[in-house]
Amino acid sequence: MTLQQIQEATEYLQQQTHNYAPDFGIILGTGLGSLANDIEVAYTVPYEAIPHFPVSTVEFHKGKLIFGTLSGKRVVCMQGRFHYYEGYTMQQVTFPVRVMKLLGIHTLFVSNAAGGMNPAYEVSDLMIINDHISFFLPHNPLTGPNLDTLGDRFPDMCDPYDLKLVEKALDIAQQRGMKAYAGVYASVPGPQLETRAEYRLLRQVGADAVGMSTVPEVIVARQMNLTCFGLSVITDMGIPETLEKADIQKIIAAAMKAEPGMTTIIKDLLSTL
Ligand code: HPA
Repeated sequence: MTLQQIQEATEYLQQQTHNYAPDFGIILGTGLGSLANDIEVAYTVPYEAIPHFPVSTVEFHKGKLIFGTLSGKRVVCMQGRFHYYEGYTMQQVTFPVRVMKLLGIHTLFVSNAAGGMNPAYEVSDLMIINDHISFFLPHNPLTGPNLDTLGDRFPDMCDPYDLKLVEKALDIAQQRGMKAYAGVYASVPGPQLETRAEYRLLRQVGADAVGMSTVPEVIVARQMNLTCFGLSVITDMGIPETLEKADIQKIIAAAMKAEPGMTTIIKDLLSTL
């Protein structure tokens, strides 16, 4: 990934959208794509048309960039994200975040489906991410020559998720009478789910939920000084003692059930910004 490739993708999108300059980027996770239906769409660009953009392979990801307004704010929304387990490099996974930054966003919203390990959680609960642990190690999107014009070689990670936004989101959930927790997200490469011993390990090191995305995008976003807000939908429970066989259809159904609540939080939050 070179600066020139990022610039070429950005310039193509600027041409296609007549320089539509979004303020907010949104990345929608598995089973969570329908927030895009609430966007007042100005332009839609399929991933395969964008120079150097990876093309999404997972069937239930639609693979397009949507430009428009949500809660009156100018957004660019990725409907469908790139997962490391699909075989993309970390640079490919995070390429769209680089492009969204050059398009002008200052804040990134990220959603995902995750397994809950905090015993207080239940399937279809929402967890606002307040910190993360990367188990993608040693794979990292910042490995290699640094693109100095985009960000620091050694970016700080003391507050990857904006804690004011976390508080605001929890307030919104409370006002709306919705259940939402704040917690720590652990990212793993996947695509297999965790063993009982792995869920136990992740819980013991302080993670409340586990999933296969988000952290690469947030690392790159923070390197470029974007404000980040992350939200997990708990789609299954990873409690070693009561673990059941994973059912991907059930996971997607749980995500879809929680989706209206997630959409409400993101829209309400956007309207305050
Ligand atoms: N583990 C990892 N990724 C996930 C899970 C899980 O239990 N649920 C949804 N994505």
